[in-house]
Amino acid sequence: MLVLTGEKVENKQVLVNKSMPTVTQTPLEGSAQPGQPQYRDVPITYKGSTDSYIEKVMISSNAEDAFLIKILLRQTRRPEIGDKFSSRHGQKGVCGLIVPQEDMPFCDSGICPDIIMNPHGYPSRMTVGKLIELLAGRPGFWTGDSTTGRPLGAARSIRKKDRDADSKSTAKSRPWVDEDLQDDTEIGTRGEEDSDWPGGEEDVPHVPYAPTRYPGDVMLRRSREFYTLMNERRSVRFISPEPVPREVIDYVIQTAGTSPSGAHTEPWTFMVVADAEVKHKIREIVEEEEEMNYRQRMGDKWVSDLRKIRTNWIKEYLDIAPYLILVFKQTHGIHSSGKKKTHYYNEISVSIACGILLAALTNVGLVTVTSTPLNCGPQLRLLLCRPTNEKLLMLLPVGFPATDATVPKLTRKNMDDIMVFM
Ligand SMILES: Cc1cc2nc3c(=O)[nH]c(=O)nc-3n(C[C@H](O)[C@H](O)[C@H](O)COP(=O)(O)O)c2cc1C
Repeated sequence: MLVLTGEKVENKQVLVNKSMPTVTQTPLEGSAQPGQPQYRDVPITYKGSTDSYIEKVMISSNAEDAFLIKILLRQTRRPEIGDKFSSRHGQKGVCGLIVPQEDMPFCDSGICPDIIMNPHGYPSRMTVGKLIELLAGRPGFWTGDSTTGRPLGAARSIRKKDRDADSKSTAKSRPWVDEDLQDDTEIGTRGEEDSDWPGGEEDVPHVPYAPTRYPGDVMLRRSREFYTLMNERRSVRFISPEPVPREVIDYVIQTAGTSPSGAHTEPWTFMVVADAEVKHKIREIVEEEEEMNYRQRMGDKWVSDLRKIRTNWIKEYLDIAPYLILVFKQTHGIHSSGKKKTHYYNEISVSIACGILLAALTNVGLVTVTSTPLNCGPQLRLLLCRPTNEKLLMLLPVGFPATDATVPKLTRKNMDDIMVFM
């Protein structure tokens, strides 16, 4: 459980429902493997006499799924004498006097000044920047743009595209790191990193491309038929043990591999498990973690939202389904030179590949349930001997639906609710 941005928090309220392994030491190499790690609750609480609001929450994790969570709190306070303030420009000062409105100077039309300044401040401090900030901040506030206090070109309000252009021109430009799109893309330092974005395809010849073109009526029929097919797709949790031809699975995976990917890095590994013993070990790991997720980690709201789907931590399908496909995202790749290869937007790329995989399964009459077993990644990665740059994204049990399979009676949103046309 984690507080949400915008939430109000009171004294002693839990911010992060953290649990820690009781044993944190890594076992010596060659020593007997310990059993499943035990966890104890160590909640992180808010301590403060006045309430706060959550301004920002940042979650990050490394390849071992060790999490780093940063929470920025905001409080509204009434200024008092002795409080220290600073503008973004760094013009700081301590409040020495609070003047009642009626004692403020005013002109003959009754207007009070916004700023009263000691002229000595001009030459010795960053006063110009401070004034630019005060003045440009106002239009910036109204238009929602950033403003800059540069001496030349002064308070030019810069729109996002200009900001992006600005940041691209700097040596540390990281155009793919947009606030909304941060994933686990591991970015090396300059020099350590390859230079395959955006000019990575410079050496690749460009060849003519002419995919099949359909007449209008055929297009319409095909679009309707594909929708009808995909609208039949459901997450099925009752899977038949009936064997599925291996070649079909091969083609399904190959289809998923046609997905687009950031800078064509193809940052995916599809691990297909058919071995009964390995499937059972996967089930044991998933069920143990899922039980803890349901009982401790997910919180009442999440568990109650899942009630209509009737899911719990018992995952029989992990033993029964003829195949388990574990989709790993590669947070980075390795060049033949041994250098790290950046996998831009790896999570988004692998998620698109998973979508194509689901469509390919539906196309051949196979079913699955998209599952994202929380906290199982590292254990499953070790079990399946995958390298540390691979992180489990999805676990898909695949097969024919059981003859008595049922699904929750869900409806899908209407076109009007999902499409905005302009
Ligand atoms: C990212 C993602 C994670 C999901 N995780 C689980 C899961 O852990 N267990 C599960 O039973 N279903 C899981 N689902 C399946 C959803 O519950 C299901 O897609 C949703 O209820 C809609 O039903 P439908 O797929 O039949 O249309 C997940 C779906 C998505 C897209």
